[in-house]
Amino acid sequence: MIKWSDKYRIGIDIIDNDHKGLFEAVNQLEEKVKFASSGEKIELWNELNYLSIYVNEHFNREEKLMQEHAYPQYREHALMHKKIKRAVFAIRKIYATNSALIDPQKLIAFFSGWLKNHIINDDLSFEPYFRSEDYGRRKSDMSDLIAPERLQLAVDKPLSTDKLAAVTVKVPAESRQLIERCAVMLCYGGADADKLFEFVDPLYGMTMDEAMEFSVLWEGEDNE
Ligand SMILES: [Fe+2]
Ligand SMILES: [Fe+2]
Repeated sequence: MIKWSDKYRIGIDIIDNDHKGLFEAVNQLEEKVKFASSGEKIELWNELNYLSIYVNEHFNREEKLMQEHAYPQYREHALMHKKIKRAVFAIRKIYATNSALIDPQKLIAFFSGWLKNHIINDDLSFEPYFRSEDYGRRKSDMSDLIAPERLQLAVDKPLSTDKLAAVTVKVPAESRQLIERCAVMLCYGGADADKLFEFVDPLYGMTMDEAMEFSVLWEGEDNE
């Protein structure tokens, strides 16, 4: 069981309440596993779905706040969220295909380890940006905080040719320019390319092989 304590408190109610709710959801999962009689097939579909929806909603709320408060590490943080969302989706995909492939104990270790680590190591870092009414909003803060980020975008360069691959695809004639523009965006990287990746996220078309690749995340020993 994971126990909520003040060391996880960020001081922003909407986020703390979500984190507490996620602790409860993981504990419910654990209880369901703990109280199943031996040999009984444990049905975890509802708990997994609930966790998956809660995780997505929580990440959306956090990301919205980060953007509103001009949090300088927004991109890195959102990428971590994306990795977790993919892992949770992969768990559901595998569970739906063959639930025996998911070890309930490792699943619990993965969720509780991830939750505690992400709050302590990542979420607590945005606390100062969210707390103060105007921190991160004043012009002087903006120039300090945002300049490196802007600079980063400004120096995005096309990838070197050895990292490029030629692709030939047939597309509807009227989409030709669209595909060319997307290709240029991908070559330059940066926020626009991230958005494009997000938009065509293969999440819902994830294959079983792709889902299994994520299992290293919850099969590993270093979840804690
Ligand atoms: Fe969080
Ligand atoms: Fe987060």
